[in-house]
Amino acid sequence: MAERFEKQEKEKKISYFKERKSFFNGEGSNINSNNSNNEGKMIVVTPEQAALAKKVCFKCQGMGHIARDCGNKVTVSKKEHRMLLAYLDQEEKEKESTCLLNTEEEFDFEEFEGQEKITPEPEHHHIDHKLSSIFLVFATIFAMANAQGLKLDYYKTSCPEAEEIVERITKQYVSHVPNFAAGLIRMNFHDCAVRGCDASVLINPTSSNNKTEKTAIPNTTLRGFEIIDAIKSALEKKCPGVVSCADILALASRDAITTINGPWWEVPTGRRDGKVSLESEANALIPSPFSDVTTLKQNFAALGLSAKDLVVLSGAHTIGVGHCFIIRSRLYNFTGKGDTDPTLSPHYADWLKTRCLPIASDSTSFVFMDRITPKVFDEKYYTMVTQNRGLFVSDATLMTDQETKSYIETQVKTKGSTFADDFAVSMTKMINIGVLTGSQGEIRKTCGAVNQ
Ligand code: HEM
Repeated sequence: MAERFEKQEKEKKISYFKERKSFFNGEGSNINSNNSNNEGKMIVVTPEQAALAKKVCFKCQGMGHIARDCGNKVTVSKKEHRMLLAYLDQEEKEKESTCLLNTEEEFDFEEFEGQEKITPEPEHHHIDHKLSSIFLVFATIFAMANAQGLKLDYYKTSCPEAEEIVERITKQYVSHVPNFAAGLIRMNFHDCAVRGCDASVLINPTSSNNKTEKTAIPNTTLRGFEIIDAIKSALEKKCPGVVSCADILALASRDAITTINGPWWEVPTGRRDGKVSLESEANALIPSPFSDVTTLKQNFAALGLSAKDLVVLSGAHTIGVGHCFIIRSRLYNFTGKGDTDPTLSPHYADWLKTRCLPIASDSTSFVFMDRITPKVFDEKYYTMVTQNRGLFVSDATLMTDQETKSYIETQVKTKGSTFADDFAVSMTKMINIGVLTGSQGEIRKTCGAVNQ
């Protein structure tokens, strides 16, 4: 996957901070999520399996064995163990191989780095701003109009336990593997960004449509599909054909964030599931990690979201990981001359290079986006950004716009005084984007496929 990505980057001569509208333009991309070595593939892990993976034989330490040789009689194949570990708590995993710095106290960035310049603000492009505003007005009207059909406790009579079931199963998974919260909230965003929040991101490729949103490049690293499937199958047993996958995703991502002590927001329900899912649309519409702030603002405006929503929702990068193959060019070949992005803290770039080696074929290595408190839903991502440690260009660029920069600085100064509340408000807007209601769409029987 990484090799294909690098090749694609070269072929397309990506010019950072310039014309790119989408994450990775789909053309020429043939990322196959069904490759045999599990790369880019979602691995189904139940909470029980996750718990089992934590329970490693004292003899072989999870390197593979047969049960009779093991003190606690747990059979762990090498492959199974590796697969499960990959989805276990990422922090613990990184601790095994590196010396992870968990708290600010442990790591004095200023002392380590000395004074570093903050990227100067570029000139404002009035035309772009005007265009954004026009987009914003239309997109907001579109989003609001559709959101009219939603209401709180929509399943009160048709499936009274629906929200409880979603919460229970989500908690079960996320309390075992807290990083699933990152997977779910990202999946929610990627769903809403394409055809609105209609669960189109969940549809599996088939022989008649082998390129769905799921196979689009930004979605190859999505995770948590098994949680949605587990919830759906529990709900289908309880009240068949009633609860939409789109509502399940919106509820589960909220419940996941709340489980890790993040904010809580109301999720009005009544969404219906879409019947269309196209890889090309996801490649074109999901914001690119190489985009500048002007492009990101336009992407968000097209969804009815403001510059404030952009900076607030980007705060979700306070949890979860970024894969090395996405930042490799930023580290090793920023302008095609073997250079590093000069806006990235040189010391941080050096550290990243120890984790993300210049190996084109490596598609599995990753780093936390918020290295200060990777598991906590707090404002430390913003601290990283002010210190030129935003992992992606799309994070760093938020310091080059007056409004987004000022929000970031305020959160850093006030230790995130309003971040949780702001996040809840912006999520409430996000989960209303382009929803299908009434007789639109359908209620899927399984989340991975449209009804026959
Ligand atoms: C502003 C535009 C955004 C861009 C360009 C962007 C880009 C990315 C990229 C490239 C990754 C790394 C994926 C990987 O390597 O597996 C990522 C991860 C993540 N993003 Fe974003 N993102 C954006 C906005 C958002 C929003 C609005 C949310 C949620 C509300 C979000 C939540 C996350 C989370 C939680 C992760 C970690 C996922 C995991 O650990 O599996 N992002 N994002």
